[in-house]
Amino acid sequence: MCGIVGYIGKEDASEIIISGLQRLEYRGYDSAGIAIVSNGVIERRRSEGKLINLSGSLHVDPIIGHTGIGHTRWATHGRPTEFNAHPHVDNTSSIAVVHNGIIENYMSLKEDLKADGYKFVSQTDTEVLAHLMADEMSKDGDMAAAMRGALKRVEGAYAIGVVHKDRPDVLLAGRKDSPLIIGLGDGENFIASDVPAILPYTRSIIYLDDEEIAVLTKDNVEIFNLDGDRIEKPVEHIEWNPVLAEKSGYDHFMLKEIFEQPQVIRNTIGGRTDEENAQIYLEEIGLTDGEIKNIETIYIVACGTAYYSGCVGKYLLEKLARVHVDVDLASEFRYREPMVNERTLVIVISQSGETADTLAALREAKKRGAKVIGIVNVKGSSIAREVDGALYIHAGPEIGVASTKAYMAMLIALMLLSIQFGRIRELIEAPEARRLIRKLKGLPSKIEEILDNIEAIKDIADRYSEFRDFLYLGRGVNFPTAMEGALKLKEISYIHAEAYAAGEMKHGPIALIDRRMPVVAIATRSATYEKIISNIQEVIAREGMVIAVATTGDVNITSYSKDVMYVPDTDELLSPMIVVVPLQLLAYYVAVNRGSDVDQPRNLAKSVTVE
Ligand code: M6R
Repeated sequence: MCGIVGYIGKEDASEIIISGLQRLEYRGYDSAGIAIVSNGVIERRRSEGKLINLSGSLHVDPIIGHTGIGHTRWATHGRPTEFNAHPHVDNTSSIAVVHNGIIENYMSLKEDLKADGYKFVSQTDTEVLAHLMADEMSKDGDMAAAMRGALKRVEGAYAIGVVHKDRPDVLLAGRKDSPLIIGLGDGENFIASDVPAILPYTRSIIYLDDEEIAVLTKDNVEIFNLDGDRIEKPVEHIEWNPVLAEKSGYDHFMLKEIFEQPQVIRNTIGGRTDEENAQIYLEEIGLTDGEIKNIETIYIVACGTAYYSGCVGKYLLEKLARVHVDVDLASEFRYREPMVNERTLVIVISQSGETADTLAALREAKKRGAKVIGIVNVKGSSIAREVDGALYIHAGPEIGVASTKAYMAMLIALMLLSIQFGRIRELIEAPEARRLIRKLKGLPSKIEEILDNIEAIKDIADRYSEFRDFLYLGRGVNFPTAMEGALKLKEISYIHAEAYAAGEMKHGPIALIDRRMPVVAIATRSATYEKIISNIQEVIAREGMVIAVATTGDVNITSYSKDVMYVPDTDELLSPMIVVVPLQLLAYYVAVNRGSDVDQPRNLAKSVTVE
């Protein structure tokens, strides 16, 4: 959840750390802090609220130094006050620590440390790490050995960065169950929670694994396990362009990411289709044709928006590959003793690849003997590394907390998978596969059509921004689209929005319908078009206001709805990729009208690495 950046080199550490934290602010933004080794002391600065408060104070009163650590926080233990903000220091202010994760045994450690005379000034779990480091360093003064000793005493999850006032030549890092990467530069090195933080400086990355620590100097990086044994790690090259992590003239990352979707679709499809031979190539998932034929049940497991993509995936896989699919929220799956065996395929979906619940569900599924594949955006993330095969969606860095382009890319990946499984299980003939591949490749230009004509959506947003409740209705493959549309609206505009399968409305939610509750109804051309028109009539009969999403050319819809957002026609199975775009834009413009902080909505964080 929190964001960590650390720097050691020749440049102004605080400038590099603040610019890295700006690119990580999506991970947490309720307070921030920095600690720089400066002329034999730790200079620490912390602020409540957004990073801009911290950067403003540094602007007025800069800290000079070439080694340091910084942190942007999403509070778990202790309110988001300056006192609880990281970095935390030991009682002599010799050691500063930033931490992402939760130290589960911090209460008992705190009692022990207090009994030994250590004084605590914050309500955080992290502060124990600073005192533990001090305690361990008092044994033989070696920083790396002290870190190993300290980490052996803690239980829970951590990614940490540590500096010492007398060692401007050393920056330490360590991780377990929380992400941390090392960036390799020329005469400078970095640590960060996520790649975008250091993209402008380097694309050469080492992924730290659990219970590994890194000792960084400006010219060298060494990795050790907790027993002090040296570990050789591969250096990976990141393909992401630094421009992808900038707003590039858009008002918000979310809007930029909505507009990137046509290109993202092209990237996800990439070289994975062969239209002529009606084939899809997904070797990276590591399943043989025999294994695919043998699958009895698929569980799709994910959280939030990724979960809704999985709900669409159920329709696609069941229709095209005729295999039973259950979709589970990761936080439920991991505790409900799922019926998994060697003929079960588990598909975990995650943009960040770090979501704690999804990671735990993946481990649970593997423990129970299932083969697990991942649909993941972030290369080298924990989920990507632990699955049996990772299908990367190539959406590029997604910075807006509300997921848009990653959702789109997840849908494309699920469609590719469904066509491939359908072909291998001999359920789709070549001409049908060719047709679907062609339609898939036609999606970007259809989405561009919507994006070229956003005025009507903006106008609707202007007229509906003040309502307090919304209902979203959809049927079939677009029921999950309704859920995703409602999630987008509530997370960035704080308007209550809920979604129902349209046919279910009469079983309860219809009681809510009145003039104060706009109903967004997905009524694109489909096998159930007539049915959803009946559902819309039921709303109108109760004085409800309908905003329909309909297929271009459907003039009749205007007699049933107050407002219409038109989308180009496509195959019904691919319609979720088209229909979600006006829903994303509607949520975006409503949130802008209400003055919300679109990219960093309250209480949320991009990467949910706590349970
Ligand atoms: O990184 P993940 O895809 O695993 O994240 C899952 C959810 O936390 C995420 O989709 C969340 O619901 C977003 N805020 C939705 O916009």
